Amino acid sequence: MPANSTRPLWSLADIPYGAIDLQKIAADTDWFYLLAGASFVEILSDLYTRNLVSYYAGDEEAIAWLETEWEVEEIQHGRALRQYVETVWPDFDWERAFAGFRQDYSPYCRPELLGPSRALEMAARCVVETGTSSFYAMIQAASPEPVLAQLASRIRNDEVHHYKYFYRFFRHYQEQENNSRWRIGRELWRRVAEVDQEDAYLAIKNVFQVRNPGMPFSHEDFEQFRGRMSVWVRRYYPFDMALKMLLKPVDLPPTLQKAALPLLTRGARRLVAA
Ligand SMILES: [Fe+2]
Ligand SMILES: [Fe+2]
Repeated sequence: MPANSTRPLWSLADIPYGAIDLQKIAADTDWFYLLAGASFVEILSDLYTRNLVSYYAGDEEAIAWLETEWEVEEIQHGRALRQYVETVWPDFDWERAFAGFRQDYSPYCRPELLGPSRALEMAARCVVETGTSSFYAMIQAASPEPVLAQLASRIRNDEVHHYKYFYRFFRHYQEQENNSRWRIGRELWRRVAEVDQEDAYLAIKNVFQVRNPGMPFSHEDFEQFRGRMSVWVRRYYPFDMALKMLLKPVDLPPTLQKAALPLLTRGARRLVAA
């Protein structure tokens, strides 16, 4: 499975943190919560990697890629976002909030939650990478601050690249397993319904608690935050791109895909607008 990407590799040294235009973003608390929360989830990739490596035991190629490329890049996303957050909001105790998140979230990150088969887990990873690709595309489009837009664009490219890899691994296992379209579609749907449930909530909660000591954080606070986010989603979320990526493992016949895409895009927009 050769790499087929020409995306530019990057490191934190490529991000001009010194050029951040603080005036454009520092006063906006929603950006603070969103970016701090995203940095937590990204950095936790070491846990996901361990789970995936044990699930795909024996698949040297997948394991080598997960450990040497995927994990390294996801952690870099987290470190790059952390540095952005600490540059713009230097008073925030990132380390302490992250420790709380890690403790809260670890029980949800168990290897027995993977599966139910090797092909279907790869399809589920495609859902996650679709989610991150479209999330950073949204950040890039919505960002009021140029350095953040630049960082989001780099991360988005990596996420699309991850998607391509997981998709190839999916094809490889699907050849052996021959899951029906229905079965794959059902698994994808299950994962879409799960996306950003517990991890987003716990990330925002831990950021909130460190930022506002002694103040309780409730599900209503989280819902209000999500409500404000849905305005951005309606405006900036790349629905077309996300649905195309999501449907790819289902492998619909081209004519059906052509008919289904606009309908699903409209449906997804309406769902968000509701
Ligand atoms: Fe990432
Ligand atoms: Fe990724």
